Amino acid sequence: MSQMAFGGEWTRQKLEILRRYLEAYTTALKDQPFKLIYIDAFAGDGYWRPGTPYTIEDYGDFSTLLRGSARLALAIDNKPFDRFIFIEKNRQRSNSLMQLRREHPRRDINVLNRDANQALPWISETLGALERAVVFLDPFATQVSWSTVEALAATQKVDCWVLFPISAVTRQLRRGDLPLTEWQAGLDRVFGGREYWEGLYSQQLPLLHDEPRYERYRDSQQIASKYRDRLRGSFHMVAPTQRTLRNSTNSPMFELFFAASNPRGAPIAVDIADHLLKNW
Ligand SMILES: C[S@@+](CC[C@H](N)C(=O)[O-])C[C@H]1O[C@@H](n2cnc3c(N)ncnc32)[C@H](O)[C@@H]1O
Repeated sequence: MSQMAFGGEWTRQKLEILRRYLEAYTTALKDQPFKLIYIDAFAGDGYWRPGTPYTIEDYGDFSTLLRGSARLALAIDNKPFDRFIFIEKNRQRSNSLMQLRREHPRRDINVLNRDANQALPWISETLGALERAVVFLDPFATQVSWSTVEALAATQKVDCWVLFPISAVTRQLRRGDLPLTEWQAGLDRVFGGREYWEGLYSQQLPLLHDEPRYERYRDSQQIASKYRDRLRGSFHMVAPTQRTLRNSTNSPMFELFFAASNPRGAPIAVDIADHLLKNW
């Protein structure tokens, strides 16, 4: 069975930022008429184990298992969310999430064993006028399609935490030549078009009879800036601060961005998120 290895310190950081945001979000909106929804689009199975890969069969040792994003969201109780949507493509993990429905019989929990890129555009279209949502996009790598992010932005009802897989994308945007053909379609899907990553390359003047050569001079921070520009183009506001999540050897793995789509709510949402991104 596949293993879940989502790191140590950086996993803790992203989850702590998310948890604090969810708490602040439900508190800030508690006297508003909105129905609040938490959408965990890459929901995992509810747990993570610091530093080591784990399997679901491994649950014997609960002492070192920590709550993953789905369990953290359910634990917000100053003002709980009205509804939870957990999307998880892996059948076994989504079955584990079903356990949460049994543990929290009074909570409105939907578990969707689906691809997030299919489920989220559909959910976005069905959000009602008085519904507001926080969406957590926490993939292993390059699974989030730009069209999905765009669908969320278009709702004007959603705040979004996005983990941009800077390590995987930088590897595919190799330095000395254009990405391998088999990677190009994936990069198009992540950025929402070739023009957004192709501009990171400069064409070298070819010598006589040679093919044109390409070189990427932009570093990973400049690649992340490209993605940030994409978010800024679609959402009402993006938090000025982003968090680089690094692995134990200090290599950047993900950039954590926050983007808000609702014109009225965005300034306060971004204020809260930016404070958390700076301080936690
Ligand atoms: C990094 S883990 C999520 C961890 C989780 N947020 C937590 O804190 O416990 C990513 C999860 O996304 C799932 N996944 C991968 N591709 C997916 C897709 N296209 N749609 C939905 N889930 C997917 C994987 O099975 C995995 O459980």
